[in-house]
Amino acid sequence: MHIMQTALTDSAKEAAYILNSGGVVAFPTETVYGLGAGIDNPEAIRQLFHAKGRPGDNPLIVHIYSLEQLPDVADDINQSARLLIERFFPGPLTLVLKKNQRVPYSVTAGLETVGVRCPANPLAREFLSYCSSPVAAPSANLSGLPSATSWETVYEDLQGKINAVLRGKPSAIGLESTIVDCSCSVPILLRAGAITLEQLQAVLPAIIVNTPTDTQEAPKSPGLKYPHYAPKASIRLLQTNDTITTGPSSGYIGLSAPPEGVLLFKICHDLEEYGRELFSFFRHCDALGINVIYCELPANKGIGRAIRDRLIRASESH
Ligand code: TXA
Ligand code: MG
Repeated sequence: MHIMQTALTDSAKEAAYILNSGGVVAFPTETVYGLGAGIDNPEAIRQLFHAKGRPGDNPLIVHIYSLEQLPDVADDINQSARLLIERFFPGPLTLVLKKNQRVPYSVTAGLETVGVRCPANPLAREFLSYCSSPVAAPSANLSGLPSATSWETVYEDLQGKINAVLRGKPSAIGLESTIVDCSCSVPILLRAGAITLEQLQAVLPAIIVNTPTDTQEAPKSPGLKYPHYAPKASIRLLQTNDTITTGPSSGYIGLSAPPEGVLLFKICHDLEEYGRELFSFFRHCDALGINVIYCELPANKGIGRAIRDRLIRASESH
């Protein structure tokens, strides 16, 4: 791939202009930064997969700024989807719906469904409102690495490979969106996020939780089969009250006090802070050459479910 100049801009209008001219542009959202290309631009979509090093069988989420765009990307919005949209859009929620013919298979990786999200972050919405089509965007990190929660991290990973970065604030949530598959009769939670299972159950008591198996022929969410969120350091999971002996170059993140002897630690005041800081802590540890990160495993409820999910996947990646 040829090296390109990556522009840094604070202007949503300028970033959208670059995207509308066929560019690949990273932009902030409240979950993590996204790497966007217009769904009507096959060459930009191809570049996007290439820049991330993303396997072509892993579909992209399509981002819209207003519900008016929904009919452009999805068909057959059923009652479950309607209820979730009413309650949680705009926000950190992605719905898997039957795709409209306008969405190319290069975006959905050949699936008949499409992931749709309307972010709440004002700069994201301003950017999307200037874009001439809905915007396909995975997280703006190199494939396999922790998602980027600041523009600096995006730049570190993708400088020279994408056209521009729209600089916004660090991501307020820091974990990728909750994904619910609403394309079948019973809604399924595919990926935990800041919209919690408990919140979803309050709207859709029948929702079920996807339990992926290795034998599943067509995984419900193709991306779930790939290694994710992994820093270079290995991740060791700690249950509360575990006592351990740390090595000389280790880090710790969690709610409780750190084990003795760790070089770098982050004590979070609550689960929201834990979620917000997790990926940037992973990257900070890597930058310092730390080789083991101990992570406290929170209880499987509320946003703790999403943090556990990312920690378990990161720990399995080595
Ligand atoms: O918060 C987020 O969701 C961020 C921001 C940028 O919106 N995006 C994000 O995208 O995390 P990505 O590509 O890193 O993760 C999207 C996940 C992948 O695991 C993918 O397989 C799944 O969503 N996905 C996308 N379309 C799907 C579909 N039609 N059916 C099932 N899973 C889908
Ligand atoms: Mg990702």
